[in-house]
Amino acid sequence: MKITIVGTGYVGLVTGTCLADMGNDVICLDKDKEKLKNLEKGIMPIYERGLRDLIERNIREKRLIFTADTKKAIQNSDIIFICVGTPPQKDGSVNMEYIYSVAKSIGKYINSYKVIVDKSTVPVGTAEKVEKIIKEELKKSNKKIDFDVVSNPEFLREGAAIKDFQNPDRVVVGTKTKDEKSIKIMERLYRSTVRVGRPIIFTDRKSAELIKYASNAMLATRISFINQLSQFCDKIGANIKEVSKGMGLDSRIGTRFLQAGSGFGGSCFPKDVSGLAMTLKENNSPNYIFESVIKANEEQKKYVVKRIEEWLGNLKGKTIAVWGLSFKPRTDDVRESPSLSIVNEFLKKGAKLKLFDPEAKENFKKEFPPSDNISYGETSYDVVENADILVILTEWDEFREPDFKKIKKKMNKARLFDARNIYNPEEIKEEGFEYNGVGRR
Ligand SMILES: NC(=O)c1ccc[n+]([C@@H]2O[C@H](COP(=O)([O-])OP(=O)(O)OC[C@H]3O[C@@H](n4cnc5c(N)ncnc54)[C@H](O)[C@@H]3O)[C@@H](O)[C@H]2O)c1
Repeated sequence: MKITIVGTGYVGLVTGTCLADMGNDVICLDKDKEKLKNLEKGIMPIYERGLRDLIERNIREKRLIFTADTKKAIQNSDIIFICVGTPPQKDGSVNMEYIYSVAKSIGKYINSYKVIVDKSTVPVGTAEKVEKIIKEELKKSNKKIDFDVVSNPEFLREGAAIKDFQNPDRVVVGTKTKDEKSIKIMERLYRSTVRVGRPIIFTDRKSAELIKYASNAMLATRISFINQLSQFCDKIGANIKEVSKGMGLDSRIGTRFLQAGSGFGGSCFPKDVSGLAMTLKENNSPNYIFESVIKANEEQKKYVVKRIEEWLGNLKGKTIAVWGLSFKPRTDDVRESPSLSIVNEFLKKGAKLKLFDPEAKENFKKEFPPSDNISYGETSYDVVENADILVILTEWDEFREPDFKKIKKKMNKARLFDARNIYNPEEIKEEGFEYNGVGRR
């Protein structure tokens, strides 16, 4: 099939590449010309394991091309995926300008029947709006062209994006009617997913849009739930790891997304929970849960700083080594990463920071450039030199079994704050460290 992907970011690039790898002819359209030039040269705009090889192979086999030519990309495809960003605005609502601008371009250039697929995470009712915008554009030029707009939200996780795209738990497709042309086309597109035993759920467009928001809000709620309990555990001397385990072994609950830490981040959970909260508000629907989830998350980031401040007495002049800046391991994405607000708080309190992340340093530097109070290390060991405390903010695999003897020798004082609860406290104490985690000591 001939496919155009509009927006070559974390979702668009993975979607386009994986669809090309299934044998489709894919055009990746983006307005960022530098990004496109780099992609053609093999310079990746994002870090995602396995993606480079897949892109190179599909470029070589001429199934994947990159362009900034909107007209050409729209006219040479049967299916158009909208994968542009839907960033949050100050009030928590979703900035829809990129989606609407793509819809306008489609309306302007559409030349034959096409399926327009909303893959970006968008508020309920967006498919209807996209359809309306395309119709308005067609009317302006007196054109009569048939098209369908479907909702096909994406559930991939950064860090495991290719695997998730190729082997999703489910594919959700929302259509306007139950017998439209697009259903057969979407079934054919996802045939290989069905072949590996993964279901496609066909539903209406609003339900599909809500499934995405509801899924992210559920996961974020579990994180805020366990984080709130972690603060209580610290107060009463209980152990949140044991609590999560004991709860999670109940088959109705399950263990996942019940790990206490420094709060959730990333380009999805914070904005999707706020987006859902705003949508409920706009529709005068009760919203007790989601605003609390966001509030609890903000609190948790402050809580980590408060615990460290209480431990060290005063942060002024203290050297803090931080391991992990991305919002989660195996990505270079720092959007809404808890590390942004935690580092900012440390700085405000007069600390000196030595930062390390295996992949996210360059993105983090855009927010916090090196200065008198901020330096970046090439290796995890560089940053512990003369540090008064080591703080783990992201649970990268390589942080799990470091050489603690070497670290201890380098540090000014052997203290470890494990904001992701990845270590066994007894083992760390045996290495001669003072240890604190979140909801356990
Ligand atoms: N990142 C994730 O893990 C993830 C997972 C599931 C869903 N989503 C959703 O997918 C959507 C995209 O997210 P992302 O993280 O890939 O965004 P991103 O910011 O990484 O990429 C968006 C891309 O769209 C391009 N773009 C914007 N307007 C354009 C236009 N008019 N024409 C062509 N290109 C244009 C930008 O230049 C950018 O390259 C969002 O709605 C997000 O919520 C993201």
